[in-house]
Amino acid sequence: MKIDGKTRVCGLIGNPVEHTLSPLIHNTLADRMGHSLVYVPFPVGTGRVADAVAGADALGILGLNVTVPYKSEVTAYLKEIDPLARDIGAVNTLVRTDGGYKGYNTDMEGLYRAMQSEGLTIRGERIILLGAGGAARAVAYLCAVKGADRVYMLNRTLSKAEEVAAEVNGRVGRQVIVPMHTGDYTMIPDGKYLAIQGTSVGLAPNADDVVIADDAFYAKVHTGFDLIYSPWETKFMRLARASGAKAYNGLKMLLYQGVIAYELWNGVYISDEDALAVYETLCKQIGQA
Ligand code: ATR
Repeated sequence: MKIDGKTRVCGLIGNPVEHTLSPLIHNTLADRMGHSLVYVPFPVGTGRVADAVAGADALGILGLNVTVPYKSEVTAYLKEIDPLARDIGAVNTLVRTDGGYKGYNTDMEGLYRAMQSEGLTIRGERIILLGAGGAARAVAYLCAVKGADRVYMLNRTLSKAEEVAAEVNGRVGRQVIVPMHTGDYTMIPDGKYLAIQGTSVGLAPNADDVVIADDAFYAKVHTGFDLIYSPWETKFMRLARASGAKAYNGLKMLLYQGVIAYELWNGVYISDEDALAVYETLCKQIGQA
């Protein structure tokens, strides 16, 4: 790509940012779309988020992604926040507008597009969601907003699941999220569920860890979706597959949260064909071609 006087800059703020795959997503998209745009990671130290956002605005930086640990903190420095991102309580994408940045959350919509691209639905589904942290909370919102029939939210710390359930149920006006202690999974009514793994358990290098190892649990699962993509196949996915379920990792969610951010920054629509070409590049990068 030729860098000239009209080249736009986007980037990522977080700490650390060295291992991010986002530059590959956005620079590949810019190449394919013929846009003169570069995407770079910016490590931002503790206490410097306000400076980073103000500095980016002063430099005319078109858009930023925001990652750990600043997804909540950054909200204090924005001109405007998309209502969905406000509900989720986390912003992962900033779009430059007149007078400051507008914050969005594309993680959730990214998961939705990833699921759609695998032919999975949420509307009318009975879902088991593992976890009640930041990621699982966003998934709970997604499931509630997109019309899931019921979501059993299992967490090690029951009170956290109860808090999320009260908040999400209150927001959508129906009792869709059912909070449970993880150990009570046998109480989930019989049937086949879409199970979404939204905890950090099983993430490399702890690839042998899993929240629930019991075969009886996986007998209730028709599809397992893990938000983790490293390792490529988590133990949760392995156990789901061993019981005859389909299983997916979180790489397409990462892909689509980036695709949606790119769409917001550039006012374009990225076709599934272009998105899947980027997916192949990502797979090659992490040795899964
Ligand atoms: P994230 O932003 O990735 O969601 P988080 O907000 O710290 O991270 O949430 C981590 C989730 O993983 C929580 O649901 C957490 O359970 P608790 O609420 O009980 O802490 C879950 N988790 C982390 N380590 C776990 C473990 N060893 N066993 C079971 N659950 C675990």
